[in-house]
Amino acid sequence: MEMTRPLPNRPLVRRHWKPWPMEGQLRDCTVVQGEIPADLCGTLYRIGPNPRYASLSGTYNGWMGDGMMHAMTIAGGKAYYRNRWVRTPKFNAEDKAGRAVFDYVLPMKFPLLAIGMEITRDNPESRGVASGSCNTSMTMHDGQLLAWGEGQSTPTLIDPLTLETLGFPEWTKKLGDCMVEKVDEYGYGGGHPRVCPQTGDVLFYTIDVKQPYLTIHIVDTKSGALRSIPLDSPYPSYIHDFMITRDHAIAIVSPITMSQDRVRHGGGLFTWEPDRGTHVAVVPRDPAGGAPFWVEVDKNCYCLHPQNAYVQDGKIILDGPQFPIVPVPCDGLDPWKQFKDLKSFMERWEIDLATKTMKRRQTDDRNVELPQCDRRYQGLPYRYGYNLWTAGDLNDYSFNAVLRYDMETGATDIHHFRDQDTACEPLFAPRRPDAPEGDGYLMTYVYRPEQDRSDFIILDAKNLTGEPVATIALPHRVPFSAHGWWGDGIAA
Ligand SMILES: [Fe+2]
Repeated sequence: MEMTRPLPNRPLVRRHWKPWPMEGQLRDCTVVQGEIPADLCGTLYRIGPNPRYASLSGTYNGWMGDGMMHAMTIAGGKAYYRNRWVRTPKFNAEDKAGRAVFDYVLPMKFPLLAIGMEITRDNPESRGVASGSCNTSMTMHDGQLLAWGEGQSTPTLIDPLTLETLGFPEWTKKLGDCMVEKVDEYGYGGGHPRVCPQTGDVLFYTIDVKQPYLTIHIVDTKSGALRSIPLDSPYPSYIHDFMITRDHAIAIVSPITMSQDRVRHGGGLFTWEPDRGTHVAVVPRDPAGGAPFWVEVDKNCYCLHPQNAYVQDGKIILDGPQFPIVPVPCDGLDPWKQFKDLKSFMERWEIDLATKTMKRRQTDDRNVELPQCDRRYQGLPYRYGYNLWTAGDLNDYSFNAVLRYDMETGATDIHHFRDQDTACEPLFAPRRPDAPEGDGYLMTYVYRPEQDRSDFIILDAKNLTGEPVATIALPHRVPFSAHGWWGDGIAA
């Protein structure tokens, strides 16, 4: 098969997920409501799966979609948009061929189980080419913009102004395998790094189907030194995100197990094995801070994205929405039952550092996901959490409201979009670098399905209920992108 196929009619390429097939730029975007704040200056980066080609056999799953970046620069009361794909080894190989060169091992029998992190079908054009799509998240530190992804994705340097792909940081040569063996000198990073606002360190984790199943990595961005901490995880678990405090890295091992052997025998990479239990790894960031330890959770759950964590009175406080079961198709589970009425509710966990035990309590009964905080408070005591909310279930991961939690009082503030709209994770920008926590703006793209295009929305983070501060109309759709970064002061 050597042809370019249309993308299949699958949930992850429909509606707000539908890929945008072009790269381009738009200066002086049209403001259709409100006014861009004169004091707001920076660039909002977002990234998401945006497949250029379907796989050779025509199937597709989100993990394998080429990472497309979207940058919106806000400066001088104007808005400047552009988008580009990350030039990963996979993208470059397919660009050269003018069609797909990768294929899944199990594309036909159980297409929902094809993820993009499993072994791929061997063929001469993809052999020796990393399959990662670098489509999960972006970070910026010391002026360096990085794109991150799961599987065979190497953290990739991106030009903050042009979005051109610049190459790989030197420290990525010290990284190893992730899910599959690495194919060149560059190893693989995880999809969800965290940047410590106090030290500037970048922390991330990698998972693998072989030992060590879970490794924490810390990059000293000033020296470029990488320190890796392999953990004795009880089984290979699919971990999508993790959390830091000022002193710790925290990863939750839930019983979504991974096996490439299962893929080789016609099954999916993931399955759900509740008997294996849910465990929390607590890893001191300082080598002198003691050994990593594990805490048992009394009930299985899956935290796709935690909100924040910090240390207080000898306890780690960890906030995050918890699913009762992983929101990813699993081998052996009926997806219609798994996703029916699936919801995630915010919980507060208190991990006692002395007794190595934890308590958990649900703090709200609304269905929230993609939580954020004011990232100047990442890993530190904080007050405000920002989430996406939907009154419906999460079978297509669609959200039509932004919700702010006041974690001190329990109060909420909500901005509703229209019922059919889909918003992306709201990212916070402080009004000024020294503004108090929560004093600033929340920004998101909102997909308007009836017009098949998107608006860029600026909300007042202290007054979500009111009208947006500004609505910037784009003539095209910006497909759903889970994650991004606000580059304060970065202006083209
Ligand atoms: Fe994510």
